[in-house]
Amino acid sequence: MPYSLDELAKDIKGILKDHGIQEGSDKVCYYVQKALMDQSFIHNNLKDRDDQNPREILYEDPELGFCVCGHVYNQEANGSPHDHGSSWAVYGQAAGETEMTEWEIVKQENDIKLVKEIKKYVMKPGDVKFYNVGDVHSPIRKEPVRLLRIEGKNLDNVERSKIKEL
Ligand SMILES: [Fe+2]
Repeated sequence: MPYSLDELAKDIKGILKDHGIQEGSDKVCYYVQKALMDQSFIHNNLKDRDDQNPREILYEDPELGFCVCGHVYNQEANGSPHDHGSSWAVYGQAAGETEMTEWEIVKQENDIKLVKEIKKYVMKPGDVKFYNVGDVHSPIRKEPVRLLRIEGKNLDNVERSKIKEL
């Protein structure tokens, strides 16, 4: 049986209601991975997009506010170190590769967080990673990629921290 967007949203909602994200993040990652392993899910939900607008909200929960998003980049896309403000996020790699760097906040000057690199790894299709509130990371995508990303709340409405590399 193919896994559908509705089922993914329902499974995530159930976990968030029963456990919350701090206890339930592994389970959310499990269901994101289940979607990534399903080629029909990827085909139906992570469709080609134009480069001006790579992110699409596939589902936004009216009660809890979490979002299931698709990101499709047709060319190189490099992000600088960032957090997601007051939101957590789960990143799932559907196609292509992302070189991800994680950063540690060393100190804060006024409202700027100064960070240094702590970890680097490559995310391949099927890989899923949870980033908690405040976790600083930066993705490098050299080739086209397709991603499934769960946002704790719609990041359109979330203010990010100011972050600078040490
Ligand atoms: Fe991010």
